[in-house]
Amino acid sequence: MSRLTVRKAVIPAAGLGTRFLPATKASPKEMLPLVDKPLIQYTVEEAVASGIEDIIVITGRGKRAIEDHFDRSVELEENLKGAGKSQLLNQIRQISNLANFCYVRQTEALGLGHAVLCAQHLIGDEPFAVILGDEIIDAAVPALAQLLHVYKKRHGAVLGVQEVPKQDVSRYGIVSPKRLARGLHRVEDLVEKPAPADAPSTLAVIGRYILPPEIFTILRKTAPGKNGEIQLTDALTTLAKKSRMFAYEIKGQRHDAGDKLGFLIATVEFALKNPSLGAEFSDYLLSRARMLSDDRRK
Ligand code: UTP
Repeated sequence: MSRLTVRKAVIPAAGLGTRFLPATKASPKEMLPLVDKPLIQYTVEEAVASGIEDIIVITGRGKRAIEDHFDRSVELEENLKGAGKSQLLNQIRQISNLANFCYVRQTEALGLGHAVLCAQHLIGDEPFAVILGDEIIDAAVPALAQLLHVYKKRHGAVLGVQEVPKQDVSRYGIVSPKRLARGLHRVEDLVEKPAPADAPSTLAVIGRYILPPEIFTILRKTAPGKNGEIQLTDALTTLAKKSRMFAYEIKGQRHDAGDKLGFLIATVEFALKNPSLGAEFSDYLLSRARMLSDDRRK
């Protein structure tokens, strides 16, 4: 197997989703729908459209709905068939055929780095992708495909980044970049959630990574950092010092759908683009906006 072929993607989905409580008390955050599709399906479709064949989902307690979603649903299929709803039937069947799915339980939410480490035995000695299920990137070229393109040319770890406002850097892993070409940087260092005054740049890591298998050895030795969690950013900092790491500015509209406001904005954007809802929804929004601005003027 060539070290340049990336066939597997890890989707960590074992987090507690505290920003979205109480909705996430007993239901996975990753199953929240943007219009009619759960968040995690957007991520899986992005991976598949980028050439990924095997999807490894890291799950935990209360996350069974994710497995059920990507499984066959024989009873539902029979029902749709009997009712002659063939278009819906095909759509439902297609979900379980998207990729080869595999699930690993993270027994405790010990951090994103720990979640990635849980996939080691299924990845082996290959480069792999990591996609965070609550970061939705709406892009003409799938976000992961953009990173894979860089990976094939540059042969090093590749992190997806985007510029964020300076006051928001403390919500992200921030890279210390050395510009190589338009949108492409060599990563010299990374800082997890820095204060704006300490941030080395405003380029934030946005939930898409291509990583070499060496990251597992580093993760095993990474001590718990912020919040007592094993941070992927800490392991990436060590990796950046040992081998080549790049940051690529992903082209596309990113939504942090794990956050209530980000989720609402993503819902509006996807509803407006939806072929069967968009026109009516946009009429509703316009009339609602008029009412809001009238209220403000009063
Ligand atoms: P987040 O911090 O965004 O998700 O982690 P969270 O912990 O679920 O949400 P909040 O912050 O409490 O609201 C980024 C990704 O890493 C996964 C999460 O599921 C999310 O997709 N994760 C995080 C794990 O799989 N395991 C962990 O121990 C921590």
